[in-house]
Amino acid sequence: MAKQGKMKVIKHCHRLEGEVTPPGDKSISHRAVILNSIASGEAEIVNFSPGGDCWSTVSCLRALGARIRRGGTPDFPTLFVSGVGQRGLSEASNVLNAGNSATTIRLLGGLLSSQPFLSIITGDASLRSRPMGRLIEPLRLMGAEIWGREGDSFAPLIIKGRRLHGAEISLSIPSAQIKSAILLAALFARGKTVLQQLVPSRDHSERLLKQMGAELESDGNSISLNPLTSPLKAISFIIPGDISAAAYFLVAAAIHPDARIVVKDCGVNPTRTGIIDALVAMGAKLRIENERVTADEPVADIVVESSKLRGIEIDGEMIPRLIDEIPLLAVAGCFASGKTVIRGAAELRVKESDRIATVSRELTKMGARVEELPDGMVIYGGKALSGAKVDSHLDHRLAMSLAIAGLMARGETIINHAQVVNVSYPSFWSDVASVAKQSRGERQLDCFVANAPRNDKEGCHCKHSEA
Ligand code: S3P
Repeated sequence: MAKQGKMKVIKHCHRLEGEVTPPGDKSISHRAVILNSIASGEAEIVNFSPGGDCWSTVSCLRALGARIRRGGTPDFPTLFVSGVGQRGLSEASNVLNAGNSATTIRLLGGLLSSQPFLSIITGDASLRSRPMGRLIEPLRLMGAEIWGREGDSFAPLIIKGRRLHGAEISLSIPSAQIKSAILLAALFARGKTVLQQLVPSRDHSERLLKQMGAELESDGNSISLNPLTSPLKAISFIIPGDISAAAYFLVAAAIHPDARIVVKDCGVNPTRTGIIDALVAMGAKLRIENERVTADEPVADIVVESSKLRGIEIDGEMIPRLIDEIPLLAVAGCFASGKTVIRGAAELRVKESDRIATVSRELTKMGARVEELPDGMVIYGGKALSGAKVDSHLDHRLAMSLAIAGLMARGETIINHAQVVNVSYPSFWSDVASVAKQSRGERQLDCFVANAPRNDKEGCHCKHSEA
């Protein structure tokens, strides 16, 4: 990538030890603030995701007339939402900006299709290159008037909101964003909507909608929703920790030869725990403790220790359960014996970067052997990695996966465009620094994560300031 962004230096670390509490779940945060904004009543959403993506959703909703107040601290925000009710949103006076967040543009795309006003919604360069035809096509089956750039392929999206009608829709792509967009549109439609999905995807929308009083039935592959006859009821709850953020520490502990990490208060919804199942299948020493439920979402603590991993093959229904963790699974594969084969994951090509290409390219720079497949990759384990200059390609999940590889690699790894982690996990670098230790039992003596000094990009100095 030509332009230089902020860099982080990651040093090989000798011991990983401690507790990490991951930030509030990003997927649940988007849904909690959208649904409470159109509900009736007051909601207090504790542990809202501190990442930029969810703030994009908040700022779009505010521009549409939602009443959302922010409290708590930067790493542990609380939102106070006064629901405006099912007809309370109004036309924004400007173009809505979803930033880097596909969940924001797609979920709001569904909601706004069924609101009686005009909306235009766009995002950053990465988001404007991501496919929107998959959103536009099913919404049009419900009567939506929604258009995109380049023959309805890309954002900006123009939406002339109107009263939609329910429809029977089969989703060919296992996408929770598209499923949720249709459910949001269907809340205000005339008649029932029935959605069929080939493979189940994360079900946070369904869980929240049911608790807020929507008439929704779901048996995994088929979901039916009746339009609202009375407003959704506001719901206050503590958002569980994000397993997609916790995953970096689960993998780090499993692949490191001297490690024990406890991840606290982490969401373990079965539609999201593919990374746990994959690690266990690879031989990880992983324990789930203290299981409980908050707002119908399972939560637990997870303990992981140094393990001897072996390669596995993943495909099919497993893929949506760990779609965001595949770059990280590729890192785990580098430290497993034998081959790790990932197939059926062509969706990776249309994420924040083409993750099949970028993960293969950047891990190869560190000495890994990774082969690209059209719909996945093959990782040949057992080759030691060496520190290198790598690039996040402005993809937060790639930046964090490379950081975990960097803790294991010989020497120093310099990650360019490291600031991108802020879209989902602003305290990632300080959380890594807090568990990276010089040796067993000792306090942290060395600096394992640092900003690259301005004029000496390869050096390491010990200020853990924000990326
Ligand atoms: C998300 C769904 C997934 C995931 C994304 C968050 C959601 O995307 O990759 O990070 O919150 O619904 P797709 O629905 O495109 O698979």
